[in-house]
Amino acid sequence: MKIVSIVGARPQFIKAAAISRVLRKRHTEFLVHTGQHYDSCMSSVFFEELGIPEPDINLGVGSGSHGKQTGAMLAGIEALLIDQRPDWTLVYGDTNSTLAGALAAAKLHIPVAHVEAGLRSFNRAMPEEINRVAADVLSNLLLCPSQIAIDNLAAEGISKHVYLVGDVMSDSLTYAATRSRKQSTILEQIGLRSGEYLLATVHRAENTDDEFRLRSVLHAFEDLGEALVFPVHPRTRKVIDRINYTPPDHIHLIGPVGYLNMVMLAQSARMILTDSGGLQKEAYWLKVPCITLREETEWVETVQVGWNIIAGTEKSRIIDAVQTFTPPAEHPPLYGDGQAAARCVVALENR
Ligand code: UD1
Ligand code: UDP
Repeated sequence: MKIVSIVGARPQFIKAAAISRVLRKRHTEFLVHTGQHYDSCMSSVFFEELGIPEPDINLGVGSGSHGKQTGAMLAGIEALLIDQRPDWTLVYGDTNSTLAGALAAAKLHIPVAHVEAGLRSFNRAMPEEINRVAADVLSNLLLCPSQIAIDNLAAEGISKHVYLVGDVMSDSLTYAATRSRKQSTILEQIGLRSGEYLLATVHRAENTDDEFRLRSVLHAFEDLGEALVFPVHPRTRKVIDRINYTPPDHIHLIGPVGYLNMVMLAQSARMILTDSGGLQKEAYWLKVPCITLREETEWVETVQVGWNIIAGTEKSRIIDAVQTFTPPAEHPPLYGDGQAAARCVVALENR
């Protein structure tokens, strides 16, 4: 089979790495980078570290408003799909690149497979929620990481060609864990020891577009007084620079890090505070307690089993969560067994 895979943003490179490795053993993959993320620390570092093949084409779309960015992707993807005529178009997650890929393919009657289908926050103010719902409606094969994702789709009337495959991010974490231990020196570079710091990431539009929310989170980090590493997403950096924020000594604001450094930072953290989707799951797999800086999560299982607390962005709630959180002794397996990519490829072959 010939498969066109569409990626564009950091978490999609990490997801695609796992699938490409399996897919290319038996099929032909044409890898499209939309160019949504373009800084080397947001893009090429993941290709290098995870052994992802060079994209066959980079559409170079770059940043912009939702309509402008998605529209440019749609036009670019449509042209290359007409040229390539694949058996399948593969889209990942919930970004604008996901939506553009699914929409372009569906209009050309090219079957769409959605990896990480069925996730819902039930918050339509999130651009990602709109992208997910639309991508799922347009998909001919829905590859779900959890039973809850399958149930979400069923509640929307989607029950055909839906498969529980597990989470491909778990595959990638397994791949990177040993490499990270061998290669990463990030802790030495920052001057921190395992278990003696908090790790934080904040990039969600709702937390960065609203400067007061971001300030509230930063003030919580300040008042916690504990060493904290914060690799800053470019979107967040723009706001931090605009408000002229200078952190106290215990807050280490660093640039976005590559995946091997991130895995090292995550596995050695005492606790993780984040609004990232991917990092909530990684925290769970690495058995690090997680505090989610949002009012809801798509990864509800991590909350149900007691390893993730929804704390929002109010300073007092964040501080209280960090100071009182004791995770349970039980740590049941969630989101599969690290073999999700193989199941995705088999599902594609069988369909
Ligand atoms: C996107 C996804 C989000 C995902 C995140 C992963 C959408 C709607 N959002 O959000 O779901 O969680 O990626 O990180 O698709 N920028 C740079 N350099 C880059 C990339 C971005 O400076 O390489 C800056 C630009 O100022 C840009 C801003 O970051 O305007 C936001 O980038 P964009 O890709 O639009 O959205 P993300 O916030 O990254
Ligand atoms: N990540 C990374 N470097 C960073 C921040 C995050 O490698 O500086 C990884 C993180 O470990 C996870 C993925 O990027 O695997 C999550 O991406 P992000 O938070 O940008 O997007 P989301 O998952 O929220 O869509």
